[in-house]
Amino acid sequence: MSKKKEIVMSGIRPTGFLHLGNYFGAVKNYVRMQEEYECFFMVADLHSLTTHPDTKELKQNVHRVLAENIACGLDPDKAALYCQSHIYETSELYLYLNMLAYKGELEKTTTFKEKVRLQPDNSNAGLLTYPVLQTADIILHRASLVPVGKDQEQHLEMARNFVKRFNHRYGEVFPEPHAFNYGSELVKVPSLDGSGKMSKSENQYATLYLADDDDAIRKKVMRAKTDSGPTAPNSAKPEYIENIFLLMKLVSEEATVKKFSEDYNNCTIRYGDMKKQLGEDMVKFISPIRNKVNSILGNETYLRQVMEQGAEKARKSAKATMELVREAMGLKYFTATPTGA
Ligand code: TRP
Repeated sequence: MSKKKEIVMSGIRPTGFLHLGNYFGAVKNYVRMQEEYECFFMVADLHSLTTHPDTKELKQNVHRVLAENIACGLDPDKAALYCQSHIYETSELYLYLNMLAYKGELEKTTTFKEKVRLQPDNSNAGLLTYPVLQTADIILHRASLVPVGKDQEQHLEMARNFVKRFNHRYGEVFPEPHAFNYGSELVKVPSLDGSGKMSKSENQYATLYLADDDDAIRKKVMRAKTDSGPTAPNSAKPEYIENIFLLMKLVSEEATVKKFSEDYNNCTIRYGDMKKQLGEDMVKFISPIRNKVNSILGNETYLRQVMEQGAEKARKSAKATMELVREAMGLKYFTATPTGA
């Protein structure tokens, strides 16, 4: 008998371009999960309205996010890949959950406080209830596994609280969702500016985007900080050197990494050569993805078909859950009459 697969759900904000950190920290995991679980991967276009009410660029951003994730290996035939705004059931569940969410706990949320600080003129109710909408996204599919980074821990804790409250009041409908990633720690992709991890940063040169052209990739890598090299054999590496090795381990052949490690240890390393090699290996890694993204973006018919296919799968699961929800909440006045069909 085949065991029913656990359900994985995650949301991706359609803001900006994917970088190498997103690839190794998130997308690569999704690609693996789609083989092992029933997966729902959603573009969080409604969430983006809390901070970006202007929708002029939304379609383009949604297309990019879809194209980038597909180019990285997400398969619309394996996972449900869909847009949040296409699943109306989300809004219904969001409404019900809002009645179970307290103003006090919502106001305490770190991301809420942070966003209010960033946009004091637009502290809208959508921002306040952002974690409620996120909970609706997840439990609409009765998902229990949520691949997200550390920054989403608090939202998941709130999701568990809303689920507990719902189940306690109306009956067990939802499993409690938990953060889920392979291994205990996510792969860290260091930034090119010497410290910290790669992120969407102000320093354009510190982050490698999957959309960067070959020259930009080479230039960024060549600008990474180095020094005149170690003076004693087998010395410890400063963080900015360690980071170059870490990046190399992600995209270069093992033998290449080994060669430069040995050069480092016997003080013959030439950082110029190492960065040139890393630049070439990065180009080899990123350029096929970038080309694939561009060809997908050029095919709107395909993108529409992907969204339709994803929405169909997501709707099917959403409708089944909402039947249970309305039933549990006592909202099925039509069919609940004793003489009903
Ligand atoms: N809030 C998440 C982020 O900022 C995006 C998101 C929306 C999400 N809905 C979700 C993540 C559901 C996991 C599950 O990245």
